Amino acid sequence: MATTNITGIKGFNDILPDEVGKWQLVESVVRRILSAFGFHEIRIPILEKTELFARGIGETTDIVEKEMYTFEDRNRQLVTLRPEATASVVRAFIEHGLHLRPTVRKLYTIGPMFRHERPQKGRYRQFHQINVEAFGIEAPMIDAEVIYALVTFLEELHVADVEVHLNSLGCPRCRPPFRQRLEEFLAGVDHLLCDDCKRRRLTNPLRVMDCKVSHCREVLAGAPRMLDFLGDDCREHFQAVQDHLTDLQVSFTLDPSMVRGLDYYTRTAFEVLARHLGAQNAVGGGGRYDGLMKAMGGPDLPGVGFAIGMERLIMLLGEAFHRPSYGSLCFLACLGAEARRRGFRLLQEMRRNQVPAEMDYEEGSLKAQLRKADRMEATHVVILGEEELARGKAILRSMETKVQEDIPLDAIVERLTALLPTPPTQEPGRPAKTKLLWEI
Ligand code: HAM
Repeated sequence: MATTNITGIKGFNDILPDEVGKWQLVESVVRRILSAFGFHEIRIPILEKTELFARGIGETTDIVEKEMYTFEDRNRQLVTLRPEATASVVRAFIEHGLHLRPTVRKLYTIGPMFRHERPQKGRYRQFHQINVEAFGIEAPMIDAEVIYALVTFLEELHVADVEVHLNSLGCPRCRPPFRQRLEEFLAGVDHLLCDDCKRRRLTNPLRVMDCKVSHCREVLAGAPRMLDFLGDDCREHFQAVQDHLTDLQVSFTLDPSMVRGLDYYTRTAFEVLARHLGAQNAVGGGGRYDGLMKAMGGPDLPGVGFAIGMERLIMLLGEAFHRPSYGSLCFLACLGAEARRRGFRLLQEMRRNQVPAEMDYEEGSLKAQLRKADRMEATHVVILGEEELARGKAILRSMETKVQEDIPLDAIVERLTALLPTPPTQEPGRPAKTKLLWEI
């Protein structure tokens, strides 16, 4: 048998136990905030039919042209690992007729996305997004509200030094004159553009504006701006979004060159950029996509939303994040076979009563067990030897104060639950304490 190590796939990361606390913190803060903003969670599959993304995101976007993980499954169906979530959320919304239920028009989902990009700091092939969508509201208030939710979330996590960049991409009514001017401009500078841009100029000129090649960026600085072509409705809508953001004290920078990398956007587009992230500096981005639901065969409902890149967000938490202490832990030190057997039962009782507890499964000296308790940062140790067992008692020692007390075995769990802080989450409908085995 071959003995070489099997390693993970490039661009696909493990999230190790040391890091998981940050992920859990981010997820719990986002759930709390989004639920206050009236968003409901939806969980959607990771694998979808390829045509969903080709149609949803746009055939001539970078994502669809060169970044998707697409393959034929065993039934020869072309399937794709989702590169983003908006198209899937829209699909699910239509498929389950959620528009008929007025309460579920604001949805969020958290999970992995897949793009075959060149991995570098902040850019991975599997990455995670918090994805937020609001359907059916045309009023500019909702644009401001989703941006406000995003900013609130970053503030709650003490992420500083971020900037909201804002643009309007107009609508199918005001785009044609802009497109024409852009095409004329691009034809004039064609010889200066990279090969991708030369091709895109003919297939999807707006996508040229998204080119990251530096000499193209210089040339494109002189390109016409969508903002100058907005029709009255789009201009008023965009102005109102800005006014609401100002009312909410969200500062933003107008960025007429920002076009976003997906074709579905109309009107408001935004990105949140972080100064400390280096080249991959967008921590989140989104916008309005009023035509997508209809184009996917659903009702003609507008939509607006955003996604936050969790890896990038977690890189920003760095200093702001104080590793929470592991909380309380009770270590059960047992001496002798009988005590270990009784201790093992006690260990499970502690856990069933929400007391985090550990013991040494191997026989060891008291000294060795106490050393282990120390390494595990136990806050309390329960010592149970043959002599204590004979007396029906155990010694409870606080690792902080070093105070020891003798406690009857059947009162230990109660004493510990009184000493340790109540765990923050209690499942609804469950009693705070389960019955002890010897009470049954
Ligand atoms: P997006 O701008 O493609 O938008 O991605 C949103 C965020 O995901 C980015 O700002 C970035 O933080 C993160 N991200 C994207 N690609 C990578 C990568 N390869 N590695 C690490 N992080 C990455 C969307 O996906 C839209 N669906 C957002 C949206 C929702 N618009 C409306 N609703």
